[in-house]
Amino acid sequence: MRILLRGVRPIGGNKTDVLIEKGVIKGISPGIRVDSDRVFDLDGAVLLPSLVDLHSHTRQPGGDEQETVESFSRAAVHGGVTSAVSMPNTSPVVDNPAIVSWLINEFRRVGLVDVLPAAAITVGQQGKELTEMAELKKAGAVAVTEDGRSVRDSRLMRYALEYARTVGLPVFLHSEDERLSDGGAMNEGRTSLELGLKGIPGISETVGILRDLEIAAYVGARIHVCHISLARSVSIVSQYKKQFPGLVSCETAPHYMLFSDRDVAGYSTNFKMNPPLRDDSDRKALVKAVKRRDVDCIATDHAPHTEWDKELEFSMAPFGIVGIETWLSSLVHYFVNAGILGWDDIVELCCDNPRRILGLPLVRIEEGAPADVVVVDPESEWEVSPGSLFSKSKNSPFLGKRLAGKVLLTIKSGRVVYSD
Ligand code: DOR
Ligand code: ZN
Ligand code: ZN
Repeated sequence: MRILLRGVRPIGGNKTDVLIEKGVIKGISPGIRVDSDRVFDLDGAVLLPSLVDLHSHTRQPGGDEQETVESFSRAAVHGGVTSAVSMPNTSPVVDNPAIVSWLINEFRRVGLVDVLPAAAITVGQQGKELTEMAELKKAGAVAVTEDGRSVRDSRLMRYALEYARTVGLPVFLHSEDERLSDGGAMNEGRTSLELGLKGIPGISETVGILRDLEIAAYVGARIHVCHISLARSVSIVSQYKKQFPGLVSCETAPHYMLFSDRDVAGYSTNFKMNPPLRDDSDRKALVKAVKRRDVDCIATDHAPHTEWDKELEFSMAPFGIVGIETWLSSLVHYFVNAGILGWDDIVELCCDNPRRILGLPLVRIEEGAPADVVVVDPESEWEVSPGSLFSKSKNSPFLGKRLAGKVLLTIKSGRVVYSD
């Protein structure tokens, strides 16, 4: 299979042709003339490494009404993603090697994206008994996490971090003091008072992170702090990074950089997620922290929920929004096209650093590199609507919006897995 990309702009370079053959980038130069099975005229669109999502809820196994292996795969490649870490808060919970193998095989069968399973820290995510991390790693788990909740018992958390360190698995942290969250539905502040909704205070996140960082530093575990939503959390993580090099990495998600608790004012549950959207000063601080790389990556926390669940009143509806399909477009539309972030920022935050954190080889746009790439048109717009999303769930805060930065082509191991 030979694929010719005509007139693409590799990141940081000029318009050229790119030839892909046998899974690798075979040639890069203007005016390549060879017989190819597929030729794409791309007219100046940008070519970058494919994206790796460190945080996705595939809902598999068990959540077929929200997402299937097939619908998740199609959504991912529509977003320019070729590998995604899947969260274990499923039914059943991903807490044993058989489920890890099943996940990997099912995604292979569909053949569009690689799933990188994160397994649970405790059996059934019940917070009582540690999972067999060594076995989980052998089966292909890339991390352990209790995402969806936190490990409440600090003593168990210590043993979990020690075990994960021993077997060499990073721990992805949903750090939250659930007693402080106390059934809240949105950020605690002026807006929650005005709207009459119970708040989740910022200290629920920072206290959770502080505890987890202290224990991880004590036992020397490798941790990755998920979905940072607050400026305070960034300062805390940065302090530990300085004191304990190599201890911790962290992520935020596009929604924390784009929306604030004011967006909850219409009571739309597509602005309800955990951690919640914070106030505008936190939002702005996060954009700066991303730019400075005090935040290492942007991940999606793609969390599909059915329409009937999300139609419940705000306080009752489940937390979570879909995001894997709007990930790249939203960043291009609101940040790259506005001159706030550069393409090199996008590549580091969404492609390189996620690969580094997982220990995967980086993808460079150069001859001989693996052809895991995406082509995105920074000008061309698409409308986010139930019909334009491949995910089985449509709970997106971008519904009705037009986003530039349309993905034209996603190529994985030299195969076209999505084309517009
Ligand atoms: O917004 C969220 N959605 N936060 C979580 O902690 C869980 C996730 C989900 O599984 O829907
Ligand atoms: Zn979480
Ligand atoms: Zn999550």
